[in-house]
Amino acid sequence: MTADSTAAASQPQEGNVSRSASAGRETNPGRDGQADGAPVADVLLSLRGISKHFGPVTALDDVNLDIPAGRVTALIGDNGAGKSTLIKVIAGIHEADHGEIYWSGERVAIRTPHDATQLGVATVYQDLALCDNLDIVANMFLGVEIRRHRLLDETPMELKAKETLAGLSVTSVRSIRQPVGSLSGGQRQSVAVARAVMGDAKLVVMDEPTAALGVSQTAMVLELIQGLAASGIGVIVISHNLIDVFSVADHMAILYLGRLVSAGPASDYDRQSAVEIMTTGASSERQNGAPAAI
Ligand SMILES: Nc1ncnc2c1ncn2[C@@H]1O[C@H](COP(=O)(O)OP(=O)(O)OP(=O)(O)O)[C@@H](O)[C@H]1O
Ligand SMILES: [Mg+2]
Repeated sequence: MTADSTAAASQPQEGNVSRSASAGRETNPGRDGQADGAPVADVLLSLRGISKHFGPVTALDDVNLDIPAGRVTALIGDNGAGKSTLIKVIAGIHEADHGEIYWSGERVAIRTPHDATQLGVATVYQDLALCDNLDIVANMFLGVEIRRHRLLDETPMELKAKETLAGLSVTSVRSIRQPVGSLSGGQRQSVAVARAVMGDAKLVVMDEPTAALGVSQTAMVLELIQGLAASGIGVIVISHNLIDVFSVADHMAILYLGRLVSAGPASDYDRQSAVEIMTTGASSERQNGAPAAI
């Protein structure tokens, strides 16, 4: 029995996901890329049969996964399981060798980071890629500065930066003109997320967002993640910290040696079962909440 049943993965998600405004309009991608007409109102991103090889290494092997809007999906797995490769496929850094990607039910090609950004995918990498010597506003607008008569137009940038941080309930920052190098780890993570969502992000992907953080900063970032999902954004979180994972995740997706061996509502797992699946790849009973074909 394998967990990669497309039939299973193509089912609408179980009842704990929000209904999008476009409910009923979308169609359900099958493995052959043809819509079969079944509504998948909640699903923002669907991966079907995604494979990726690096020379002889199979980093991803026929991965099928649905990512809902307005919910947090935790992507977990042991070292080398393929988590980073999967998010790099979604972010347009690596192109899959095989497989199809659907965005709100429509087949799309994500070949470059620009393609991903255009769709509304925002990725926050572990190193955050912030410039310590620049302040919060400059970091948030790095490369997308607002200019007036070729000069930087600071006022609208400050307003937008403030508004975005306030929208994320980030209140602990003293001044948006503070250099990012002077911020705490949690605040830095918040600035990176604010930069990511400032465009019209519909899906935020975060790689190990709490890895370097202390207890209170971790709590702040987990709250931020839940806030993103509550605002309707789909969130994918990669984390090795299962305490954090279980405190925010609505859905789980577990990779083992490049295969998606288990996926479903987080309430169906506990830490023990998740660790067992991560380390043995043993569970093949479900994928995205539906029983896999035998
Ligand atoms: N650019 C690359 N070139 C060659 N092999 C790669 C490359 N990127 C990843 N791999 C290989 O693909 C497999 C999956 O790697 P990946 O980085 O996706 O794992 P991961 O789940 O993110 O692991 P970790 O938890 O250690 O970050 C590994 O065997 C890795 O060595
Ligand atoms: Mg990784």
